[in-house]
Amino acid sequence: MASMIFTDCSTSTMSRLNHLNRLNGAFLPRPCVGKLSLPRTASGRGCTLSIRSSSSPSAIVINGKAEAKKIKDDIKIEVSRMKELIGVVPGLAVILVGENKESATYVRNKKKACEYVGIKSFELLLPEDSSEEEVLKSVSGFNDDPSVHGILVQLPLPSHIDEQNILNAVSIEKDVDGFHPLNIGRLAMRGREPLFVPCTPKGCIELLHRYNIVIKGKRAVVIGRSNIVGMPAALLLQREDATVSIIHSRTENPEEITREADILISAVGQPNMVRGSWIKPGAAVIDVGIKRVEDSSTARGYRLVGDICYEEASKVASAITPVPDGVGPMTIAMLLSNTFTSTKRFHNFQ
Ligand SMILES: NC(=O)c1ccc[n+]([C@@H]2O[C@H](COP(=O)([O-])OP(=O)(O)OC[C@H]3O[C@@H](n4cnc5c(N)ncnc54)[C@H](OP(=O)(O)O)[C@@H]3O)[C@@H](O)[C@H]2O)c1
Repeated sequence: MASMIFTDCSTSTMSRLNHLNRLNGAFLPRPCVGKLSLPRTASGRGCTLSIRSSSSPSAIVINGKAEAKKIKDDIKIEVSRMKELIGVVPGLAVILVGENKESATYVRNKKKACEYVGIKSFELLLPEDSSEEEVLKSVSGFNDDPSVHGILVQLPLPSHIDEQNILNAVSIEKDVDGFHPLNIGRLAMRGREPLFVPCTPKGCIELLHRYNIVIKGKRAVVIGRSNIVGMPAALLLQREDATVSIIHSRTENPEEITREADILISAVGQPNMVRGSWIKPGAAVIDVGIKRVEDSSTARGYRLVGDICYEEASKVASAITPVPDGVGPMTIAMLLSNTFTSTKRFHNFQ
């Protein structure tokens, strides 16, 4: 079974990015020499970093934030063209049940992104003790509303509500999260096209494309098999003609499998689980995992850490996403893109 131990092997992404010079859409590290010891973690495991010398290999940083901005800017132009030509404004409905703080932050960010590109957002905040029927009624209302082109139910839902029943109720034509079983089923089947592809995996593939990373014929490994990230990411890679392996919590010796990967996508939520030694030299590494880790040296008291031990992996990989500012912003960009695609489909707009 894969290791569950959290090890602190990364410095903060911001300070890391501050040391990078931007060139032609890729980041190149400034040469530096020396050795840095990081404090030991609660688990007692620490890691000594060798700061790379000018001659050490280092990965290109896949800048999800910058790519997401470009996508949003393109959508903004298209949305305004649509409004001008046919008088239609895309609409995205977001249903949030309960007061989960992280979910509320995601919903706020989605709303802000909608405002930026000119998509109208309909936000429905339901109390924690709402019944399943009440949530289903809200979904049904948005299904019938012609000014809504996409519906998103923020997960997780409170435990008394059956997530499957709710996701099944979203009209497949408005399922911009791509979680409806019909959309996932089509994604899995050869010769079928889903109406929407889940946003996070779609964002991962989009980043690989934008950085000209070849997928066809390559060995790809996905760590995690959730319905919303790992499984659809594996399906997408397979659709792009990669040979795909999936690692999960019961996989024995995962590092032996990851070492074969030309493309590695990790979606677990286990900070720094994937060490440099797990990575094939020259691999492209996409880190979906994101977890808050206590850090009293930051103003917020925490920092965000991915599944990949960045400092180690960036010396082995050829390209790597940071956390934050890697996959996260792409997820929202893909949601906007799916909503715009849906609106075009509803109004037969080219
Ligand atoms: N950046 C974004 O936009 C974005 C979007 C969504 C999620 N995320 C992040 O991505 C991470 C995964 O999200 P999720 O919703 O897919 O999580 P999830 O539903 O909890 O799934 C986690 C997956 O990881 C597997 N796993 C757990 N421990 C493992 C281990 N030690 N070794 C190998 N596999 C292990 C699990 O295996 P089993 O199936 O065997 O249990 C499961 O398939 C989280 O950190 C989440 O916050 C980020």
